Formats: sequence, C-alpha cells, structure tokens
Amino acid sequence: MPSDSRIPSRWRERVMTAAQAATLISPGTTVAMSGFTGSGYPKQVPLALAERIETAHALGQRFQIRVLTGASTAPELDGALAKVDGIELRLPYQSDPETRRRINEGTLEYLDMHLSHVAPHTWSGFYGDIDVAVIEVAGIREDGALIPSTSIGNNKTWLELADRVIVEVNRWQPAGLEGMHDIYYGTALPPQRVPIPLVRADDRIGEPYLRCDPDKIAAVVLTDGPDRNTSFSPIDDTSRAIAGHVVEFLKNEVARGRLPKNLLPLQSGVGNIANAVLAGLEEGGFRGLNAFTEVIQDGMLRLLREGVLASASATAFSLSPEANEAFKRDIDFYRERILLRPQEISNHPELVRRLGCIGMNGMVEADIYGNVNSTHIMGSRVQNGIGGSGDFARNGYFSVFLSPSTAKNGTISALVPMVSHVDHTEHDVSVIATEFGLADLRGLSPKQRARSLIATCAHPDYRDLLQDYFERASRESYGKHTPHLLGEALGWHQRWLDSGDMRPGAAA
Ligand code: COA
Repeated sequence: MPSDSRIPSRWRERVMTAAQAATLISPGTTVAMSGFTGSGYPKQVPLALAERIETAHALGQRFQIRVLTGASTAPELDGALAKVDGIELRLPYQSDPETRRRINEGTLEYLDMHLSHVAPHTWSGFYGDIDVAVIEVAGIREDGALIPSTSIGNNKTWLELADRVIVEVNRWQPAGLEGMHDIYYGTALPPQRVPIPLVRADDRIGEPYLRCDPDKIAAVVLTDGPDRNTSFSPIDDTSRAIAGHVVEFLKNEVARGRLPKNLLPLQSGVGNIANAVLAGLEEGGFRGLNAFTEVIQDGMLRLLREGVLASASATAFSLSPEANEAFKRDIDFYRERILLRPQEISNHPELVRRLGCIGMNGMVEADIYGNVNSTHIMGSRVQNGIGGSGDFARNGYFSVFLSPSTAKNGTISALVPMVSHVDHTEHDVSVIATEFGLADLRGLSPKQRARSLIATCAHPDYRDLLQDYFERASRESYGKHTPHLLGEALGWHQRWLDSGDMRPGAAA
C-alpha cells in the first residue's frame, strides 16, 4: 500500500493500478476526463483503457466510449484512444494529430463547441449521463476534497455529474499548486441562475478545492508523468510584425482615451503569434495589465515576473519544459498572482462582457467582409476547434484576429472572397491583423471593411485579385450591401483543391 503524503490513509485502500481502474470503464459509456491544452489530463488510465480496447477489438468485440474533456489533451489520452479506434464521439476542442486524422477521414464523431457551453450543456443533459469521470489532481485531502492540478477545465462538473470517479494523483505536479485555484460553486441552470459575483479579473469568488462525494471515488491511481511539453520556436519575423501592429494599435487606443493605460483584461490564444504579442506588450512599455484568459503560457509567466502583468486568471497552464521548471521554482510568487478557474467561469459570457476583455486569437482565414474561419481547412477539414475564441470574440470589449497573410508556402491567401466555414461572423470581429498591417473594422460598413482589409492585410500576391473580385462584385452582385458573386465566391478554395494554388495559373 503506498504511503504517499498526497493520499491520506483513509483513501489508500482505494489505490489500484491504472489497469485495474480501467476495468471500471465499460463499452458504450460516457467518460469525462480532466485536461485542458495539454495540462492536468490523466496520464495512465486512458493508456490502460486503450490497451483494454485494443484487446477487445482483437477478440472481435466492439469497445468504444464517448470522451468529454476540458479541451485538448495529449498523446496519452486522445492519441492513445483514437489510435485503437476507441472513441465514438469526442467533445469539445482537440488538437491531437491522430484524433484529427480520424475525424477528417469520417470515422470519429466530433462535436466542436464554445468552451463556456460545455458545463451548462452537460448539466442540461444534452450529452446524456456521465458514467465515469477520470480526473488528475495534485492530491486528496482527508475529507475527500481534491487539490486540483494544472488545469481545472470542466472538472467541477464532471465530479458532480459522474456516477463514479477515478482519481489520478500525479506526484509530478508541484504540491505548491495548492491554493492557486478558485472553484466557484454558485452556477445554476435557468430559471435559478443568479449573477456571478466577479467584478475584477483577479477576484476570488470560490474555494481552492474540488468537492467530491467520497462515496463516488471508485479508484485512486498514483502517477508521475509530466504534462505535455509545449515548446515554442523563437519568434519569427512574421509573428513579430503581426505583434508589432497589435501593440501599436493598443497604444493608439490608449492615446485616444478609448482604453485605460493598463488596458482591459486580456485574453490571448496560444501559439507563437500570441507569444509574440505578449513579448510586444513588454517591449511596448505596458505595466500593471491583467489577464482574464483561458491558458497561461510561457510569455505570461515572464510578464508576471516583470510586472507587465499584475495578475492572470485562466483555467489551465500550457508551459514549455523550461517555463515549467521556472514556474515550480517560484511557485509561491506565482500563487499570489495566478488564479485557475473552471472554464465555465474563465470563459463566461457574462464575465467577459462585464470585464470588457480584449480577445486576441489566431484564425485560419477571414473574408473581405471580416467573417472569420478558425477551424476548417478548405471548408471541410477540421484543424483543432473553436476553443474559447467565440466566447471572447462575441462578448469582449473588442476582438482581434491574427494570422500570417498566407499559408502553405504562399499558395493560400488567409484573406479570401468568402470564408469556406464561419466561426465568427462579421458582427463579432473588430480587428484583423496580418504581417502587412492591421484593419480596424469597428464602425465600418461591409464595403468599407472590404476596402480596409484588402488594402492593409492582404499579401501583395493576392491584393489585386481580391480588389478585382470586390470591384466586379460591387458592380454585378444581386445586392450591393455585401457584394458577392456566388458562383465565384468559393472559387479560390476550389482552385487550390484542384491545382494546389489559389492564384490562377500559378500552379507548377
Ligand atoms: N488555409 C489552409 N491551411 C491553413 C490556413 C489556411 N488559411 N491557415 C493555417 N493553415 C494551416 C497551417 O498551414 C498549419 O498546417 P500544418 O499543421 O499542416 O503545418 C495549420 O493550419 C496550423 O497553422 P499555424 O500557422 O501553425 O498556426 P497556429 O498554430 O497559430 O494555429 C489556428 C492557427 C487557427 C489553427 C489556431 O489558432 C486555432 O486552432 N484557433 C482556434 C481556437 C482558438 O482560437 N482558441 C483560442 C483560445 S486558446
């Protein structure tokens, strides 16, 4: 029997191996797991379950489950289960290559949705019953309360709704995480819903532990594995240029009195462009900012250290191995400045609107009127998912979408006549920036938006083509409010599918 201090004696009799715990999961069940952007996901039970599924399939038995998480996880969870064809349906956000492959070959059902919706929709019963929850934590307390690890995601909801709970206690997670979390227990479904008492980004409104009915804990599994390692490449020229436009824009907003000197709470997506924007804020001389966001990545730790950020509220970490070491070293410093919340709170529309968050996210493509596609390549092949981008774009003070002006070695323009899939309508998109410039679309009509986007954001290879489309559409379109030539509007995508290049006659 293990004598680890993270598992009080009362709980030790429930300790078992991952393989034993995996036998508690039956074919056809709905399994809700922890995990958000590669952190805080269970490291061993999903692997053991994948082995069980593989064995069952080898014997000709059907074994699939429905998998719900916070957001993306890692190869040990999504990857392992997808590889053995163990997932019937997956929700919400994912970014795993194996899962993506199966979704796009049509053998895995994927439900992509706003991250703020997952918990309330599960409570409403839209996804059926939750049979088992598999939750990674940093420790268990005597009373059964759980010390969360590096992501909260939907764990509160999974623990409340699941019939049975498997707890993975991960000793790799620093014990110093205790006290960094803020779990709010006041949400309810309408008509019982009441305002959430959070008025500043760094307000604590809940408790540091996840409640869990002790009778539900069916297994405790000890693990030692690291979170998924997210490495960042050095900031490239394109990301630096995009970040430069955004920082300049924010400075101008301050100068014009439309934003306070320490801005409004920032939401920033993950990835290299987002990291470049964070670095740009530091170089731009900003101080005392607050983040009300989903994910704390390397750049934010640095900004906290330097005083550029005063506080950061999120639902998860997504750190490189080096940043993780630095975080562990200075965890007492960070605990004073970082709050991890359930994703229904970190992304809550009421709070995002009240705080006036500035949402900054990547995109796949935008059209000349400012509709944004964040998820689908050529209209049909899903890349990751909408994540929290919609929660912040619709409800924030304003929304910024960022992308290089081209993709796939210049064969694709990120600015197209009509997006091949819409995640964020023109009504939710305030600002678009590429390495060539930033278009402030606020207060502009559709035709004004098109002129501004083509002039500032388009790659020179595509600018005349876009201008030509817009001019002809403005003359010949059925209506002249949002001019389009419907027979041609998606022709750029078709040309790329047919020839490998969106530019007419450019294909080798
Ligand atoms: N057409 C076709 N492919 C495109 C494309 C376009 N217009 N734009 C990007 N891509 C491809 C890239 O070529 C790359 O493909 P690869 O993996 O085969 O190399 C892939 O999409 C990812 O693009 P990349 O340039 O590496 O950008 P990124 O890592 O910054 O991701 C998004 C961009 C849009 C995919 C990413 O921001 C995302 O998933 N956003 C939605 C979720 C979100 O906004 N969350 C925010 C809250 S955390």
